[in-house]
Amino acid sequence: MKRVAILISGGGSNMLALLDSMAEPGHCGMPCLVASNDPQASGLARAAERGVATAALDHRRFGKDRPAFEAELHRIITDHGADMICLAGFMRVLTAGFVTPWSGRMLNIHPSLLPKYRGLHSHARAIEAGDAEHGCTVHEVTPELDDGPILGQARVPIIEGDTPETLAARVLTMEHRLYPAVLRRFAAGDRTQLFLP
Ligand code: GAR
Repeated sequence: MKRVAILISGGGSNMLALLDSMAEPGHCGMPCLVASNDPQASGLARAAERGVATAALDHRRFGKDRPAFEAELHRIITDHGADMICLAGFMRVLTAGFVTPWSGRMLNIHPSLLPKYRGLHSHARAIEAGDAEHGCTVHEVTPELDDGPILGQARVPIIEGDTPETLAARVLTMEHRLYPAVLRRFAAGDRTQLFLP
């Protein structure tokens, strides 16, 4: 069994999809912690309701001292016996100092068809560019932002009249399918790419 720590910053709908999936038979992962950099993140209460250990580490307490924040986050995660980390809407950039020790053991979901639209506002940027399709990517985390080996992608058409909000909602539905499917495979040692639909 792989013990999985999930890091969130907000509502945690992807986190809930991962918890639901890990509760299914035959999964090689089990949740050991849901942690957030924002003590107000509503996902924390939703995880606690499901009996998963939670932790809040307010990054604002650390001011500009990113290494100190990351060292404390690492300590909390290792204290919970995590074997791997899933970033699920975790909106802090993590430096090489944090990422390197978790190399090959940390996944992220990003709302674009990487390598397109790293960083923020990916939905607006895809619409602005006149793209015919958009989507989401699950990848291994490396020190470069939204980079690292791609483990899965799901595509979503961009339709006439889409706004960043309508498109984001459609992509999120696919995120909830893609991320659990990739984690299930990854936890079992399968790093081959998965493409949906
Ligand atoms: C998701 O769309 C996720 O892909 C995105 O934040 C949202 C979190 O929603 N992540 C990023 O933009 C990371 N750069 P959730 O809290 O409901 O899972």
